[in-house]
Amino acid sequence: MGIDLNRLKEVHLLKSNGATWESLGGEPVKSFYHRNKHYLRNIESELEIVDKKSPDVHWREYLDHATATQELRKKASCNQSGLTINKSGFSDLDFICLGDLHFFASGTDHRAIVELTDRILSHDNLYLVLLGDELETAINMRNVAEVTSQLMPPAIQLKVFESWLNEVKDRVLFATWDNHSSERFEKGAGVDMLGWIKSKSVPFFDSIGNATIKVGSQEYFLAATHKLRGKSSINPMAGHARYMRFDDPTREIVIAGDSHVCGSGWWYDGGIKRMGVNCGTMNVNSPYAKRYFSLYAQPVFPVVTLYGKEHNFTAVESLKEWEMYRGL
Ligand SMILES: [Fe+2]
Ligand SMILES: [Fe+2]
Repeated sequence: MGIDLNRLKEVHLLKSNGATWESLGGEPVKSFYHRNKHYLRNIESELEIVDKKSPDVHWREYLDHATATQELRKKASCNQSGLTINKSGFSDLDFICLGDLHFFASGTDHRAIVELTDRILSHDNLYLVLLGDELETAINMRNVAEVTSQLMPPAIQLKVFESWLNEVKDRVLFATWDNHSSERFEKGAGVDMLGWIKSKSVPFFDSIGNATIKVGSQEYFLAATHKLRGKSSINPMAGHARYMRFDDPTREIVIAGDSHVCGSGWWYDGGIKRMGVNCGTMNVNSPYAKRYFSLYAQPVFPVVTLYGKEHNFTAVESLKEWEMYRGL
């Protein structure tokens, strides 16, 4: 139980003005005063400083404010982590997995990017998913040669990407974040400039993204991201399988890039057919990759088919193989 500070203050003032202990109530008041007089330091300063600022914090008010700010930020964002695509009028859905194009890296095959883009656009029913690292964006000063070897400054890279995206955007099902642009822009400036451009035109996953895709009478559950954790030195699908086993068993297909190690494959896990797809790269002569990883890089971008009549899916290695399989 707390002491009566007002009473202590009153006794102190009366005693200071010459009152006797008898007149104040005798021994009990004297005892009360001496037991608690150490509180008078506070009381004295209170008496002398009349406008001391004290905090007026009510935790509910601040948490309500934080929630309101989060809601405003969400309203302003075009980024998402879930997406539903309705192609129920389609008999099948075919899309090419494009990632790690690395426009303007010194080792990129830019002619191949032009040829692949033209070939994609020549097929009316072929869609795209973009898995990041479309630009080189060497803006980290971890290595001077890396920065100086890129073929265009980052501002021009962004404009060129925007021009490329304008041509293909009607075919893009979704695009993901990446480490070359998203993370570097966020690190340097707090804003993902490439993600900003993507998110204005197409659905943009700034994290792992879940896509539910309806094709014909079927519904498919995909996850896509630039980079997965969990690596194996001999299995490019290790991260994909790990993700579907441990993080989200509801996913049937996981698509990623980043490693530049292409591959695709299907298997059964928990009685459900699963498939993993990983992109190759157009940066086929990367000095960094050639020094630290391999002399070989594959410009391989698998094409996924989701069937509309029965629940099944597959992936072929390349656009060329897809054209053969479709008889085009
Ligand atoms: Fe990459
Ligand atoms: Fe990457």
